[in-house]
Amino acid sequence: ETIEWDLEAAEKSGYDHFMLKEIHEQPTSIQNTFAGKLMELEGTVRMNELYLNPEQIKHLRRATIVACGTSWNAGILGKYLFEKLAGIHTDIETASEFRYGNPVLCGEELTIAITQSGETADTLAAVRSSKSYGCRTVAITNVVGSTITRESDSIVYTRAGPEIGVAATKTFTAQLITLYMLAIHMGRTRGVITADEAKDLIVNLKRLPGQIQRILNRKEKIKECAQQFADKRDYFFIGRYLNYPVALEGALKLKEISYIHAEGYAAGELKHGPLALITEETPVVAIATKGHTYDKILSNIKEVKARNAVVIAVANEDDKEIEKYADMVLRIPASHEMTSPVLSSVVLQLLAYYTALAKDCSIDKPRNLAKSVTVE
Ligand code: G6P
Repeated sequence: ETIEWDLEAAEKSGYDHFMLKEIHEQPTSIQNTFAGKLMELEGTVRMNELYLNPEQIKHLRRATIVACGTSWNAGILGKYLFEKLAGIHTDIETASEFRYGNPVLCGEELTIAITQSGETADTLAAVRSSKSYGCRTVAITNVVGSTITRESDSIVYTRAGPEIGVAATKTFTAQLITLYMLAIHMGRTRGVITADEAKDLIVNLKRLPGQIQRILNRKEKIKECAQQFADKRDYFFIGRYLNYPVALEGALKLKEISYIHAEGYAAGELKHGPLALITEETPVVAIATKGHTYDKILSNIKEVKARNAVVIAVANEDDKEIEKYADMVLRIPASHEMTSPVLSSVVLQLLAYYTALAKDCSIDKPRNLAKSVTVE
């Protein structure tokens, strides 16, 4: 007698798709990303792989982040973190635009390339271009020995483990964690944040794996929500400040795997165009977690409700106020304003996954997309 088995099914360890497996791996993959780096008692982050001495970090005048796709979305969060926690003016550039632009760069600057695969042609070209201006380069990548690691001065590995699903999930959250760590490290070195402020962030980072597990344990609600709106043609995702990249990434995940037209918007920009597209047929996902832009996003929710949109809010567990305005509320555990984007992102990964599942799409290999894009 022979036993029939299928290597792919075995590798999925019981999950229907690699994407779902990788979403579920995040409590562990995130721990691997920060293993050995978070010095909670001292309020510092150990970044030995960064070949920049304290003097060089103190004298940094500007940083430029270059990336594509999901990594570019992570880069927007990076910009906000570097500016807030390290006081470094930071630009975020789409690698394919940067390489053909006329960047004004000088030697006292840092270029940070974010690329999961380490092979994206445009990102590699952007790094080569900034090196030609004399900038120091740091690569944030998940793949050991990838091309980018041979092209950059410093390499910070995200250590999320292999990702098979084309839609990036655990590598995205690993990039976010890496950016928090870099920003805290540089912020402490430059004296922009105190040890206590860094400790508070570190405590919140350490809570994330357990909090993600909590979201995963209650994913039924997200699945129901996804099923309810899986037949819609258009979706909007809105967020402000640190939740803006979360909105962009939520929209990107949905369009990649469910083929629903989705747009991520900075909520304040709604009135400059997209509002014209909002009807009772357009679900609007509003990332409305607690923070200094909370009241502003509430106003945006009221704005779209007035146009009869269906509002799905991502909000904190203890937020009662939000129920007055949103049609559906997907909850995340309480976290620091700076770290909650990681939790909201997991909710939106699940929303995209269950929407694509309801539509019976090819989740792990979406049409026309590749895991790494090594050509222009
Ligand atoms: C492809 C993938 C995306 C990824 C992008 C950038 O388009 O499908 O998931 O975000 O490339 O890839 P990188 O490896 O540079 O992060």
